[in-house]
Amino acid sequence: MTSTPETTETTHAPTRPAPLPPPVLWVGDDQGELHLLDQTRLPQERLVLELRTADGVADAIARLCVRGAPAIGVAAAYGLYLGVREQCPDRSMLVDTARHVAARLLATRPTAVNLRWALDRALARVRVDLTQASLLSEARAIEHDNAESCLRIATNGANLIHDGDTILTHCNAGRLATAGEGSALAILFEAHRRGRRFRVFADETRPLLQGARLTALELAAEGIPVAVIPDAAAAALISRGEVQSIVVGADRIAGNGDFANKIGTYGIALAAHAHSIPFYVAAPLSTFDPALSNGSHIPIEERPAAEVLTLHGTALTAEGILARNPAFDVTPGHLVTGFVTDQGLLLPPFAASIKAALAAGR
Ligand code: MRU
Repeated sequence: MTSTPETTETTHAPTRPAPLPPPVLWVGDDQGELHLLDQTRLPQERLVLELRTADGVADAIARLCVRGAPAIGVAAAYGLYLGVREQCPDRSMLVDTARHVAARLLATRPTAVNLRWALDRALARVRVDLTQASLLSEARAIEHDNAESCLRIATNGANLIHDGDTILTHCNAGRLATAGEGSALAILFEAHRRGRRFRVFADETRPLLQGARLTALELAAEGIPVAVIPDAAAAALISRGEVQSIVVGADRIAGNGDFANKIGTYGIALAAHAHSIPFYVAAPLSTFDPALSNGSHIPIEERPAAEVLTLHGTALTAEGILARNPAFDVTPGHLVTGFVTDQGLLLPPFAASIKAALAAGR
């Protein structure tokens, strides 16, 4: 059967999914627990993990139950508090215990710098305050600040979306990936609230399908027209003039504007550049890593081959076939039109605009 644009249009959910619970939620007082929406089960099931240990949080991060750079950072900050609470060290051992728990959490995922950023921020606080309670209060502050950053990113980016546009996005940089409205998707939510009429192509995002499972769900829940496309279709649709701009999130942005994001982002950026389509990256300042002069220093997470070789537990290949599974790629800054941040829209030359934004915002 031949596919037509009409059949593509109908691929978004005809009925609106119910709003999702937050991906990260602290429940209770200092004896409370961390609730994480298990994103590996979405969209079929809304299972909430109720966690009271740092190991539980580390495992949830490693398995992508909680995922997306800012959300990982927030979850890890609460995990740090849980780990220290478990061990209940006396004051003299508090900082060492916190450092030990932080190292366990940091080892879960290497690429998103928000994880290290959040843990460093919490460790800095406990070094000064020397109380367990300060770790919980810092985790709450990190969560609050990220929610605020998302709102500012939304405001700073909404005017980049025009009536009649088709926007391409990759992976999931929405509410499920942050403590607020998202980064890339926050811009789309705000443009939608302002009455812009546009639609979205959500790359399915092999192998874990964050675009198909999560981004499409979030956009449909908001009433934004969305069609899932195979990752392999992105360049062809761009070349045919079917995409007016691209908005993605980021996991780490080097000082010169090179940035890591979900594997497949680089190919989209190359296609956008070849066809003169604007390519925007939305991220809070906590995703910038000015200690890295360029993207070649960004550590790239390699995930298990089984994620590529199986689908819902069923083998896709003959026995014994090998796979590579790099979870992220690095896109050179010269392919980026602009970074939409909580500190405004950063334009080239990025070494200068990033430096200025970080100086103003930190
Ligand atoms: O492996 P994931 O699902 O954690 O990857 C997430 C992404 O690549 C997002 O685009 C990025 O973290 C930005 S989230 C605001």
